[in-house]
Amino acid sequence: MIKTVDRYNYIWPTVDLSMSPQWQHLKAKRFYARELSENEESLQKDSRWPAMFPSSMCLVTTQDGSVSALEKVVAPVIVNRFPYVMTLSFCTKHLSGRHHVRGEFMKHLEKGGSVAVQFIQPGEALNKVMDTIDAVKDENTDQRIKATRLSIRQGVSNNAPVFNDAYLVYEAKLIEPSKDYIGDSIYHQPFQDIGSHRIYFLEVTAIQLRQDIAEGKSQIAWESLPVWQPKYELPRPKRMHSDVSDPDKYKKLYNPHYKFPAKNTIAFNYDTIEKGMAVKKLSTQIISGNDDSRWPCFFPSSVGMVTSLREDGTPNLMPCGSTAVVGRHPFIIGICVAYAQINERYKKRSSLDMIKQTGKFGCGVPYVDDKIVEGITYAGNRSLSEDKYKITNAGLVVDSSFDVPVLPDLPITFVCKVVGEVKLGTHLLMLGEVVRILVRDDVSPDNPLTWFPWADVIS
Ligand SMILES: Cc1cc2nc3c(=O)[nH]c(=O)nc-3n(C[C@H](O)[C@H](O)[C@H](O)COP(=O)(O)O)c2cc1C
Repeated sequence: MIKTVDRYNYIWPTVDLSMSPQWQHLKAKRFYARELSENEESLQKDSRWPAMFPSSMCLVTTQDGSVSALEKVVAPVIVNRFPYVMTLSFCTKHLSGRHHVRGEFMKHLEKGGSVAVQFIQPGEALNKVMDTIDAVKDENTDQRIKATRLSIRQGVSNNAPVFNDAYLVYEAKLIEPSKDYIGDSIYHQPFQDIGSHRIYFLEVTAIQLRQDIAEGKSQIAWESLPVWQPKYELPRPKRMHSDVSDPDKYKKLYNPHYKFPAKNTIAFNYDTIEKGMAVKKLSTQIISGNDDSRWPCFFPSSVGMVTSLREDGTPNLMPCGSTAVVGRHPFIIGICVAYAQINERYKKRSSLDMIKQTGKFGCGVPYVDDKIVEGITYAGNRSLSEDKYKITNAGLVVDSSFDVPVLPDLPITFVCKVVGEVKLGTHLLMLGEVVRILVRDDVSPDNPLTWFPWADVIS
C-alpha cells in the first residue's frame, strides 16, 4: 500500500528538461525556457501543469435542495478580505482525462448556491474520500458522499454536508452583487469564465475549526513552501541606503513551517462550540484595526513572488499569498493585489499600477531557504514607495534583461501577460496568462522541487 505521504507528495520535474524539445537551454543565463503555446492536441496527450506552482487542495461539497455532491479542488484561494471571499475553479471544457468537465457538480453548486470547503488530515479518511472521487465519475457526483461511507452532518450556515472527519471547514455562498468601500459596483455575477475554467467567487459565511485546535491543545502544521536544493548560490547583493522612515512599522514575519494556533498567530475568535467544532459566523463588515483585520483563521496558501517594472525601469517584488493557478487552457495564474486603503496591512500596493501600466508580471516560486524567507519578509513589509532599492535590500539579485524582472535565486519563474482583472472589494484579481516559463538549470529529476498539498494536525 502507498504511504499517505508518498501518495500526495508532488515532485517536479519528472522528466529531464534538457531532453525535452519544448525547453530551450539559455546556457549563459543558466535557465531552461519554454514559450507557452499549447494546443488541444498536445493537452489531450498531457495536460499536467507545464511547471510547478505550490497549491493546496481541498474537498468541496454542495447541496441543491434535493441532491448533495462532492468534488476535490486544487488551488482554493482566499482572494479578498472584505468581504471575505474565496475562489474555486472548475473545468468547463474537456482537455484530457485529467482536465475534464465537472458539469454535474457545477450544476448542483449553481442551483444550491452554497458549498462547504473542507480539510481532512492526511490518512485513512482522506484516502477514502480521494479514492471515491477518483472512482465515481462526475455524472454520479451525487453518489460520492454515500460511497465514502464516512459520517456527515449539516453545515451551520448552509445545507452542504460536512464530513465529521474534517478538522477545518469554510462554509460559503455564491457572492451577490454589492459595492466596494468606495461605492463601486462589484460582483455583477458570481463566476467568471476564462478559457477552460470557471472561477466561482464564494463569500465565506462560517468557519468551523476542531475544538481541540481552537483551544490550542492541537495545532495545524502547514509547510507553505516547496523544498528544493540549489546546486549553486548567487552572491547576496550589497545593501543600498534608503530613507526608510518608520523602522518600527508593523511587520508581518514569514515562517514557512507554519503552526496554527501559535504565539505569533491570532487566536481563532469563535462564537460557539457545536458538535466538537469551534464555530465563527462571518459578517461583511470592514474591520479597520491592523490585527483585527487579519485572516480570522488558518487557510492553506503558499506565496507567489510577484515582480513588476516601473516606468522608470525600477523593478519591484511583491510577495503574494493569494496566488493560484485558476485556469489550464490558457494556463492562467491569478494574483490578488490590494487596492483599498483600509489600514497599514491593507492599502494600495505600488505593484498594482506597475502591473496595470505594463500589462505584465512575473511570478516566481520560492522555496524553503533562509535567504528566500528573509526576502519574503522584507519585500512583504516594505513598499517600493518607501524603498526604491527594495529587491536589493531584500537580499535578492534581480535580472532585468527579460520581459519582466526575474529573480535568478528562484527555481521557477512564470512570465505572465495580463488578460483580465476582477474588482473584489479590497483586492483586485489580476489574471495573468503564462506566456513563458523559466526554470533554473539545476532543477532536474535528480534535484526536483517537492511539495505536499495538505496540512496536518499535531498534538
Ligand atoms: C507572506 C506574505 C503574503 C502576502 N500576500 C499578499 C497578497 O496576497 N496580496 C497583497 O496585496 N499583499 C500581500 N502581501 C503584502 C505585500 O507583499 C506588501 O504590502 C508589499 O510591501 C507590497 O509592495 P508594493 O507596495 O511595493 O507593491 C503579502 C505579504 C507577505 C509577507
